[in-house]
Amino acid sequence: MQPGLSFEQAPPISVPYRFFLTAPLFGIAAGLFLLWQGPAAIASRWSPLSLALTHLLAVGFMLMAMCGAMLQVLPVAAGANIWRPLLVTRLTHAGLTLGTLLLVAGFLAEWPLLFKLAVAFLTVSLLFFALAVLLALLRTPAVGPTIVSLRIAVVGLFVTVILGATLATAFGWHLSLPLTHLTHVHAAWGLGGWSLLLVAGVGYFVVPMFQLTPSYPAWLSRSYAWALFCLLLAWSLAWLPDPRPQALQTLLACLAALLPLAFAVVTLRLQGRRRRKMVEPTLLFWRLGAGSLIAAMAVLLLQQLLPAVDAYVGTPFVIGTLLIVGVFMPLISGMLYKIMPFLNWLHLQKTGKPGLVVPNIRDMIPEARMFMQFRLHLAALVLLLAAVALPVLVYPAGLALAASCLWLERNLVTGTRNFIRFGEELKAAVARERQPERPAAA
Ligand code: HEM
Repeated sequence: MQPGLSFEQAPPISVPYRFFLTAPLFGIAAGLFLLWQGPAAIASRWSPLSLALTHLLAVGFMLMAMCGAMLQVLPVAAGANIWRPLLVTRLTHAGLTLGTLLLVAGFLAEWPLLFKLAVAFLTVSLLFFALAVLLALLRTPAVGPTIVSLRIAVVGLFVTVILGATLATAFGWHLSLPLTHLTHVHAAWGLGGWSLLLVAGVGYFVVPMFQLTPSYPAWLSRSYAWALFCLLLAWSLAWLPDPRPQALQTLLACLAALLPLAFAVVTLRLQGRRRRKMVEPTLLFWRLGAGSLIAAMAVLLLQQLLPAVDAYVGTPFVIGTLLIVGVFMPLISGMLYKIMPFLNWLHLQKTGKPGLVVPNIRDMIPEARMFMQFRLHLAALVLLLAAVALPVLVYPAGLALAASCLWLERNLVTGTRNFIRFGEELKAAVARERQPERPAAA
């Protein structure tokens, strides 16, 4: 059975919206952080400034939005009902918000107590979230590539959180651990084993549905998640032996990079064959995401194969920017612009009653404003990449990133306000209809 849409199980609208409305705030903070710190923020991948920036975006923006979307999408699209959704929501949202702030503060202040507190908040909330989601995914009767990808992605989230917590614990308690190796593995699982698999799982479902394209070919959707998971696992284990099997690890990294590259190429080709030829914002965000994914994997391949690219100090920054700002942030923005209007409409239908017209999905967030955010985000990406060669560009890049996330927040607030406004109008209309007709004046 393929997953279908089951609206009865939709959680209250406040469940996903608190995540959606918080995520862009961390993006704004990241833009302002770039403006504040300037070129120092991107000088080295190992600097505390760069690690703080990475987590403002990777956890504060990406993970925040992804958790909210999962809590909403799983019951509706995968028939996977989450145990006590409101409890899971409150714990995850509070833990993620406070934990991210503490982790970022820990990097900036280099104060062990902040890392200790961050570990407590992030680990408890995220492991609880991952467990609740995994149980729901294991119990759903639905099958198919989306479910398989999501299950494996959640395992990837477990690995990411456990490794991230180990690293932060090492900073908090001054433990001597192989930090460089652990960081490589943690970053690979966070961006690849969790985020990329989540994107693929969601993509198999939403790209054909929203953009009216043919389905993903079975050779890709059936093997992608397992193959990427196994390659990442083998690559991670290859850090353990001493001496490290360098050639084998390079081979595994190259094979792992080819998979997302294939996914991105197939996505672009499917979009080229879409039935509705109109260009709408989500399509542009997906195209930017897929194009950036191809570029990121190409640079990763060059880094593995050419020592000069590997030695260049800007390479990790280029890959990280392409993935976080070029792939995940646009895909998340594009998805939010589909999910929020749809959820507004869905919940308004429950408020209204047969015969009353619920406002159109297109009336929830003006499309012109979505296009504007796309332009701002594209500018932020281009400027950030250019800042690798010309560090002074980090200032306009920070400004563009903050503006893009501010615009996203504004659009999502408009969507939320419209939900409230239309809801009140519908309730008033229902009340009017229920009022007994006044007897005609004698
Ligand atoms: C999906 C979530 C996450 C993603 C995508 C992610 C991503 C990353 C990346 C890409 C790096 C390397 C940065 C670089 O090399 O420039 C990194 C490092 C690090 N992460 Fe995360 N992270 C995530 C969650 C976490 C969590 C939950 C914690 C703590 C509980 C954490 C703690 C750390 C620490 C302490 C480092 C620095 C290690 C060092 O400097 O040696 N991360 N993370």
